[in-house]
Amino acid sequence: MTHFPPAAPAPDFPFRARRERLLAHMLAQGGGVAVVPTAPERERNRGTNYPYRPDSQFLYLSGFREPEAVLVLVAGDRPRQFLFCRARDKEQEIWTGYRHGPEAAAARFGFDAAWPVDELERRLPELLADQPALWTGLAAHPEWDRRVLAALERARANVRAGTQAPCTVHEISAVLDEMRLVKDAAEIALMRRAGEISAAAHCQAMRAARAGRFEYEIEAELLRVFRAAGSQFPAYPSIVASGPNACVLHYVDNDRRMADGELLLIDAGCELDGYASDITRTFPVNGRFSGPQRDLYQLVLAANRAAHAAVRPGNDWNAPHEAATAVLTRGFVDLGLLAGAAEDLIETGAYRRFYMHRTGHWLGLDVHDAGAYKIGGKWRPFVPGMTLTIEPGCYIRPADDVPEAFWNIGVRIEDNALVTASGCECLTGGAPREIGEIEALIAAGRDGA
Ligand code: GLY
Ligand code: MN
Ligand code: MN
Repeated sequence: MTHFPPAAPAPDFPFRARRERLLAHMLAQGGGVAVVPTAPERERNRGTNYPYRPDSQFLYLSGFREPEAVLVLVAGDRPRQFLFCRARDKEQEIWTGYRHGPEAAAARFGFDAAWPVDELERRLPELLADQPALWTGLAAHPEWDRRVLAALERARANVRAGTQAPCTVHEISAVLDEMRLVKDAAEIALMRRAGEISAAAHCQAMRAARAGRFEYEIEAELLRVFRAAGSQFPAYPSIVASGPNACVLHYVDNDRRMADGELLLIDAGCELDGYASDITRTFPVNGRFSGPQRDLYQLVLAANRAAHAAVRPGNDWNAPHEAATAVLTRGFVDLGLLAGAAEDLIETGAYRRFYMHRTGHWLGLDVHDAGAYKIGGKWRPFVPGMTLTIEPGCYIRPADDVPEAFWNIGVRIEDNALVTASGCECLTGGAPREIGEIEALIAAGRDGA
């Protein structure tokens, strides 16, 4: 972060436009005051905190990354945009670093005014006076709930002075989640870049994996590529799962020694300026897929392709899941893993024995991003600008009725897609998926080693 912030927002600054869209929506619903706080800092253990990550709703509307901040938007004849943030503090800044302070924050982040966050208790009841509604997100951060509700209570106490308190409270997530579902140009640019960085990390993992190395050594390669490219965090704990660990969906210990002949499933993505990427690749530790590994891999790859083809305007959210499930279930029958007619196995859910999760989720500021999947009880249609994951897989645990050749094989192939006018753009194609490409990349890594 620069110590000399520019006096005005950067030319491509998208945050004020987002706030104006929110204000327009509020105004259309009768107006009021929006209060959106950021996430609190959390202690990890005595005297040290978890790395700080702002609240996604707050970050979406402000771009401001310091803790202890709240934005307040007043929707009325004269819409106003305010920020409360930490005051400058020379002594504290020696220990914990630069703070914008209200004056510089207002200029750089495009607010009409900003005040020290210590003034929230005094100013918020005044801002709420004579306003029809409070728009806020309850239950996300209980500490902030208390402060916001105390301000509401104070505004009510002021009725004796002749002012009215808001008599309606709107859950602001209902609006913000829908806004966030369709990405704007600035978000798409960040998500493309996050996808590129994460794809490069997966390529590096393919080059680095060897029998005898530990899963955490490969995790370290991923983290190095993320961070060296400017990503602030992994978007979620990286899964580096070799052999039977690939059948544990949320495996994160990453402490096993990889063995010859096994597959390595890696589910890892970086977060870039708040935006997540989420890639899974599965490849052989020794660089060559065995016959049964190849069979299952090709099946999951076919499901991944079928799901990609189903992501387009005109189709609904469930279309890629149905496409992937149909391919996988037919494949399970062909490989002798399931017996019966594929339609029946889908109908009864029998395929879930080997494919027990859904084929994707919205992706954005949160890895499992905001936005409803159904509207009025129906899967929602795709529209351009939505971003999602496509992540079919299969997980075969040992069992008497399962051919032994497939035991302990877990495969997932996960990509990130942007819905376009005619279909979808894959944001994560930089990490190879075809068997030939994967084997070639691993071989090239060994030649250079
Ligand atoms: N890595 C989290 C997920 O794939 O949903
Ligand atoms: Mn994932
Ligand atoms: Mn995912």
